Amino acid sequence: MANMANNNSSSQANGDSNQIAQDYDLSQPINSTSGLRSGLTSYGDAHFSLFLRKVFIKALGYSDSALSSPIIGIINTYSSFNPCHSNVPQLIESVKRGVLASGGLPVDFPTISIHESFSSPTSMYLRNLMAMDTEEMIRAQPVDAVVMIGGCDKTVPAQLMGGISANKPVIPLITGPMMPGSVEGVRVGACTDCRSYWAKFRAGDVDVEDIMSVNEELAPTGGTCGVMGTASTMACITAGLGLLELRAGATAAAVTSSRLRVAEQAGRNAVAMLKIENTKPQELLTRESFLNAITVLQAIGGSTNAVVHLLAIINRHPQVAGTIDLKTFDEIGRKTPLLVDLKPSGDNCMTDFHNAGGMLALMHTLRPLLHLNARTYSDQTLGELLDTTPFKSFAYSRQIVRSLHDPLYPQSSLVVLYGNICPDGAVMKASASKNRKLLQHRGSACVFENTADMAKRIDSPDLDVTENSILILKSIGPVGNPGMPEAGLIPIPQKLGRQGVGDMLRISDGRMSGTAGGTIILHISPESADLDSVFGIVQTGDNIVCDIEKRTLTLELEQEEISKRIAERKQRAQHLSGKGEGRPEQWLERHGRRGYRGLYEREVNQAHLGCDFGFLTAQGPGVGQSEDRQ
Ligand code: FES
Repeated sequence: MANMANNNSSSQANGDSNQIAQDYDLSQPINSTSGLRSGLTSYGDAHFSLFLRKVFIKALGYSDSALSSPIIGIINTYSSFNPCHSNVPQLIESVKRGVLASGGLPVDFPTISIHESFSSPTSMYLRNLMAMDTEEMIRAQPVDAVVMIGGCDKTVPAQLMGGISANKPVIPLITGPMMPGSVEGVRVGACTDCRSYWAKFRAGDVDVEDIMSVNEELAPTGGTCGVMGTASTMACITAGLGLLELRAGATAAAVTSSRLRVAEQAGRNAVAMLKIENTKPQELLTRESFLNAITVLQAIGGSTNAVVHLLAIINRHPQVAGTIDLKTFDEIGRKTPLLVDLKPSGDNCMTDFHNAGGMLALMHTLRPLLHLNARTYSDQTLGELLDTTPFKSFAYSRQIVRSLHDPLYPQSSLVVLYGNICPDGAVMKASASKNRKLLQHRGSACVFENTADMAKRIDSPDLDVTENSILILKSIGPVGNPGMPEAGLIPIPQKLGRQGVGDMLRISDGRMSGTAGGTIILHISPESADLDSVFGIVQTGDNIVCDIEKRTLTLELEQEEISKRIAERKQRAQHLSGKGEGRPEQWLERHGRRGYRGLYEREVNQAHLGCDFGFLTAQGPGVGQSEDRQ
């Protein structure tokens, strides 16, 4: 066998012939823990495992020499159901070019791909599945570092969650935003304008013919939604974490040559990371990295979804989990102005942000508020990275990236509320409110028990609602409607919309698209499906007070009445089941359900913890899960 290796003349010429020979030296252990020789499949004989691995990979034409290089995995999330990832094949080629030019061996492999509009019941339902897929494929395969290509809303969070848990060096690569479209000369961006045009259609201001032609224009190219939605937010946050090149990494459009150069550089960076110490994500990322990411989230007026995702990502990190919670988001918000003028909080698109200097301009502007000692992918601290990548074009940039002294919104773009109705917290993007009077508001609840109830009654002329009412939608929390749908943007009842009412205070235990706007309170925790939830017993006609200044959300009901309603609700649920030692019917269903849906419903934790599966968090199973969910 040793002769076979020695007879391979190209290996001797180019590769590490000693190491190749040692692969067949049965008297010695395999002498490397990297590249092809790492993570061997278990057959009880390590040399045979390596021999077999080489047999199969040589079927693809690789030489021993190539196989002695460090292996850079490239996660391929191309799918014909995912237009936000339509450029992934070109990105993979560019990453490969960068890896090969740096002396690595690029090997791409697939994981699942999730697109918002093609995932039922929701893409959020599948985020944890993608995180598991990502983690286990990174862990299982012989890769020394990994370039993770993601873009659409849930893909980047899933990859960061999985990458941190797998704890091999990772370089995220964002697919990039789409270009804006144009409707009768007006620039439009998915999906803020998808929603605004649909609202006009519902109100009768746009006819069928026009809405059909708008449909053709809202997503004119591949790439992620072109406003500050969840995808763009997560891209900017990833740069804030120190994992992306600042000038173009988060913002270069999907269809540009700049995006391909970002990809090539990601390949080079992945190889370079192998020569730097402590670049595994659990070493590279610290509490300060995450505080910087939250500062970025507040400064960009980012998506409320990113709060859930960041909490899930943070809770994957053994040293940071539990040190940052919803209160931290609010504390940072109070010190951080909204600086980036993008839809839905402002007026512009991601391409404008990129042209204005993107994250490089923003990070220089935010410098006084950032933890400059946080490390970055380049082995520089954030402070060193900013020192070595100056930004000089602020004269133009300030139209989009405001200064700290001239913000778009003075502070607290995202606020966290607490109160008897949400003891574990709720989130609101205050900067996206279209009627700021509603930020301090007392009104009477108009309750929909679930989405079916809402669909049936919201447009009824008999609905008992005024513009001062507070619309409540229950049962769209993590368990109540698996995947916590983005139904929190409760539509304005048609009869009010036709009177010109454009915004109302709306409250739910669900999520809202990052591209949407309005005065909307989300992520009520615990959700209404929890039988102890106060939100679950709100009735039409109850008064609710929202006070953004005090950060409170209160159901004006005596505690005695609240306790009585909760007890009655539990009794009803148990009565319904009639079996299983008094367990509620829904509890029994959930615990008997097979497959991923069963796993999801049993294991997902609440929004204030990130909606991860308890057993995937750094703390392990059981944290934050209520036995009494319906
Ligand atoms: Fe993919 Fe918006 S649908 S980013």
